[in-house]
Amino acid sequence: MFSGSDDGVVEQSGLLLLATLSLSHSHQASAGAAPFVGVNIGTDVSNLLPPSELVSFLNRQKISHVRLYDANPELLGALSGSRISVAVSVPNNQLLGIASSNATAWNWIRRNVAAHLPGTRITAVSVGDEVLTSVASSVPLLLPAMEALHGALVALELEREVVVSTPHSFSIILNSFPPSQSFFNETLEPLLLPLLRFLSRTNSPFMLNLYPYYAFMQNRNLIPLDNSLFKPLSPQNHMVDPNTLLHYTNLLDAMIDAAYFSIKNLNFSDLVVLVSETGWPSRGDSKEPYATPSNALTYNSNLIKHVFDRSGTPLHPEITSSVYIYELFNEDLRSPPVSEANWGLFYPNATPAYLLRVSGVGGFLASDDANQTFCVAADGVDSKTLQAALDWACGVGRANCSEIQPGETCYQPNNVRNHASYAFDSYYQSQGKSSGSCDFKGVAMITTTDPMVTFLLFSVQFSSVSYMILACKPSKSLSNKTKQVVNTTESSKAGDNLRFRTFKSIKISAINNIWHNYLVAAFPVLLLFLL
Ligand SMILES: *[C@@H]1O[C@H](CO)[C@@H](O)[C@H](O)[C@H]1NC(C)=O
Ligand SMILES: *[C@@H]1O[C@H](CO)[C@@H](O)[C@H](O)[C@H]1NC(C)=O
Ligand SMILES: *[C@@H]1O[C@H](CO)[C@@H](O)[C@H](O)[C@H]1NC(C)=O
Ligand SMILES: *[C@@H]1O[C@H](CO)[C@@H](O)[C@H](O)[C@H]1NC(C)=O
Ligand SMILES: *[C@@H]1O[C@H](CO)[C@@H](O)[C@H](O)[C@H]1NC(C)=O
Ligand SMILES: *[C@@H]1O[C@H](CO)[C@@H](O)[C@H](O)[C@H]1NC(C)=O
Ligand SMILES: *[C@@H]1O[C@H](CO)[C@@H](O)[C@H](O)[C@H]1NC(C)=O
Repeated sequence: MFSGSDDGVVEQSGLLLLATLSLSHSHQASAGAAPFVGVNIGTDVSNLLPPSELVSFLNRQKISHVRLYDANPELLGALSGSRISVAVSVPNNQLLGIASSNATAWNWIRRNVAAHLPGTRITAVSVGDEVLTSVASSVPLLLPAMEALHGALVALELEREVVVSTPHSFSIILNSFPPSQSFFNETLEPLLLPLLRFLSRTNSPFMLNLYPYYAFMQNRNLIPLDNSLFKPLSPQNHMVDPNTLLHYTNLLDAMIDAAYFSIKNLNFSDLVVLVSETGWPSRGDSKEPYATPSNALTYNSNLIKHVFDRSGTPLHPEITSSVYIYELFNEDLRSPPVSEANWGLFYPNATPAYLLRVSGVGGFLASDDANQTFCVAADGVDSKTLQAALDWACGVGRANCSEIQPGETCYQPNNVRNHASYAFDSYYQSQGKSSGSCDFKGVAMITTTDPMVTFLLFSVQFSSVSYMILACKPSKSLSNKTKQVVNTTESSKAGDNLRFRTFKSIKISAINNIWHNYLVAAFPVLLLFLL
């Protein structure tokens, strides 16, 4: 599915100087739409969760976008009502039938898409898998199949909801570093030109499977590991594109920009890259020493943060590509090398392969099934009601509310919902999670996502990125400076000060220690990454 044979990544034969670089593209459906992080669900798994359990697992993990390698009707049925966006796929072996008969394409769409809408939120049909580089015989079928499927969607008036695209291997792009010198393999141009025209005409994304892991493995002496893992680099280790003078701090962005330059060489300026697969394996054989849990967690955690930072690429800071992580489960049935069976964030039984350090962004919190539950403010409750419950928890309930007082580490973001979640959970934990201890007259609910981490999530969504650091973290690492900032910002709100002063002396054990340790461990990484 991905060979990632990219020998040209760091070829620096710089001779071509692109004279005029028009950076002012008018990209469709790009700048405004929030980028997402989804997961690919491969099914070469000996004991795949039954569809309904799989869907509740996805919900618990707050996974909002999935890409399937087929259009499994049971799973699509189970996803109904889940609000999870789904990309379904046409396997390569069905291209012939679809390309040669409009009726077959029509049936495919009716059975695998239309029948499940609107209950199941199908948003994309991903046609074939790396067809241009892996199945020579199917190459002429690809575009006709896409046209036929799109035609069927148009006939059903679904073409606005459901896009049609096809994922490519990065190996269709040659000379990929520096990005400004990249171009599509000329042999493929006759196929790519009409394909890009189709994508442009139908407002569909250009799908690419991007594997910095393979690029790194094949160019180990040229590409620093840190660069592949999105780790902070000293400026002399940035890759600088000599033609554009753009600085590349990570390989994924360089690969995405290589695609934009290649697309531009064919005179298209309105296409957006969607990363249909990317990831890092957590285990490998003796020839795969970089397939480790530590590298996998670093890559995927930094990837997720990179997407939610919405900083785009050096060439297109205004466009942040959405990504589907490869992949949800380790596919234990895949044949060697060992890494092939170890790309998953989770083992097939839904226990995490490693713990991500993502501070709740997108909710990919890998320990959710380890019998950890928390109590937070329920959705849709008005702040007056929440305030009353908060007051009860911190007063009569004797929850440990010291950390949500002004100037303390969990005071930010300062709103009733966050403070209530903190207090509810403190109470719930102090009551040994006994039944009934997470109710507060119905305004609280049990969750598997740590509210301390949720605070950070809120801050990502509603505040500046640097607030993530100020938000809710172990107080030891808070510098004097940042503490003053918090204090200065908030001390004018006299009402808050009053309310919290009352509870200052109440001290009851609080948040689960495991999570505390986790945040202590995660914080230096966050800091390095964000500052
Ligand atoms: C398939 O449908 C398209 C319109 O969607 C039409 O242009 C084309 O001629 C049809 N092909 C066949 C073989 O009927
Ligand atoms: C370009 O694509 C053709 C057809 O797939 C392939 O045979 C050739 O090796 C590719 N060229 C490079 C440099 O990868
Ligand atoms: C792109 O546009 C340039 C300038 O108009 C032209 O010379 C070139 O042939 C075009 N390339 C393609 C692939 O259409
Ligand atoms: C979860 O924890 C509760 C109480 O701490 C315990 O009774 C229960 O057996 C645990 N469940 C699992 C699956 O470990
Ligand atoms: C906040 O600032 C006030 C005066 O500016 C000071 O008296 C108080 O101790 C500060 N509180 C914290 C928690 O730093
Ligand atoms: C914070 O401030 C106190 C007193 O002003 C000082 O003793 C301490 O060294 C400072 N800590 C840091 C980390 O700057
Ligand atoms: C309340 O929580 C804070 C921060 O987690 C902790 O330092 C303090 O010891 C707790 N108080 C009690 C009484 O457990």
